[in-house]
Amino acid sequence: MKAIGYKKNLPIENIKSLQDIELNVPQVKGRDILVEIKAISVNPADYKVRAGMPAEDDQWKVIGWDATGIVKEVGEDVSLFKVGDEVWYAGDFTRPGSYAQFQLVDEQIVGRKPSSLSYAEAAALPLTTLTAWEMLFDRLQVEKDNPNKSILVIGAAGGVGSILVQLAKKLTRLKIIGTASREETTSWLKELGADAVINHRNKLSDEYAKYGISAPDYVVSLNGTEQHAEEIVKVIKPQGRFSFIDDPKSFDVMPFKVKSVSTHIEFMFTRSMFQTEDIMEQHHILNEVSTLIDKGVVKTTLGENFGVINAENLRKAHAFLETGKAKGKIVLEGF
Ligand SMILES: NC(=O)c1ccc[n+]([C@@H]2O[C@H](COP(=O)([O-])OP(=O)(O)OC[C@H]3O[C@@H](n4cnc5c(N)ncnc54)[C@H](OP(=O)(O)O)[C@@H]3O)[C@@H](O)[C@H]2O)c1
Repeated sequence: MKAIGYKKNLPIENIKSLQDIELNVPQVKGRDILVEIKAISVNPADYKVRAGMPAEDDQWKVIGWDATGIVKEVGEDVSLFKVGDEVWYAGDFTRPGSYAQFQLVDEQIVGRKPSSLSYAEAAALPLTTLTAWEMLFDRLQVEKDNPNKSILVIGAAGGVGSILVQLAKKLTRLKIIGTASREETTSWLKELGADAVINHRNKLSDEYAKYGISAPDYVVSLNGTEQHAEEIVKVIKPQGRFSFIDDPKSFDVMPFKVKSVSTHIEFMFTRSMFQTEDIMEQHHILNEVSTLIDKGVVKTTLGENFGVINAENLRKAHAFLETGKAKGKIVLEGF
């Protein structure tokens, strides 16, 4: 099968940072399904791993997490899917990824692809949707029916923010304040349902004062957490709840003490990495969001289609994502 992989961690300008390769189709067993990949999307995790996580023993490392495709074979213990089903998933950090024509994935972290979306439109969503859902409802446990609460979403026009804002808008009564720094990302965020947009290049407390916005009950930080930490402490309401997903070099919770702010880290791969008792939650979340999409409640966050899945296009996609200026998601389709 065709695949794209690397052996050495190289900067994306290097032609060997991602290469077209041929591998054997993997053998299915247990609760795994074998999926013929139709479309994928690229996440910051892809370039972080490509640049920093070595391949083992001169083997090709195949990365990539978001995928949509068709079930080709099922293991002997599979009960949720059958051959021919259209699926979507964000995969498992510890296993070979979706930059390949065929991939094995545990059925418990797979959902039914929304039938109203194309493969490419659907591929934009799984990883960011799971992250956003787990952040809002598992970690922060936001109050869905309270009309008097608000959330600040820092870095809201990127992959995760674009779906998180929609989920918050459609499934809760929160007032949503998103941050963006450019005209393009500001208008995208308003279209997705943000009630107000402030600029993360300015001090958040100044922006709150300038627009007379009341202090947020919840803050989610999707980008630049280290840079914004001091301002988050300033703006968040006493007894508020805070969550982040990016990779600050260090993070000090002590400044939150006087406000009794609870702090939560979200890592979308925890459930699959540790095979937690509630691993099936990811199957349920993906199915629930699939239904929301087919009912027209939530829409795709596809920003740009970078063409067929090959090393050249993936290098372009990584290079663009590394600029930190993504609006929604980058997808690639077909081999
Ligand atoms: N823990 C997890 O499970 C998990 C899951 C998904 C992602 N992540 C991590 O979360 C981060 C965000 O992911 P993503 O897919 O949303 O990224 P992304 O799509 O690359 O985010 C791009 C957006 O971030 C904004 N941005 C750039 N620099 C910023 C800053 N200093 N402060 C605030 N906003 C900034 C940009 O807005 P403007 O262009 O308007 O400036 C842009 O719209 C990444 O570090 C990723 O690795 C973690």
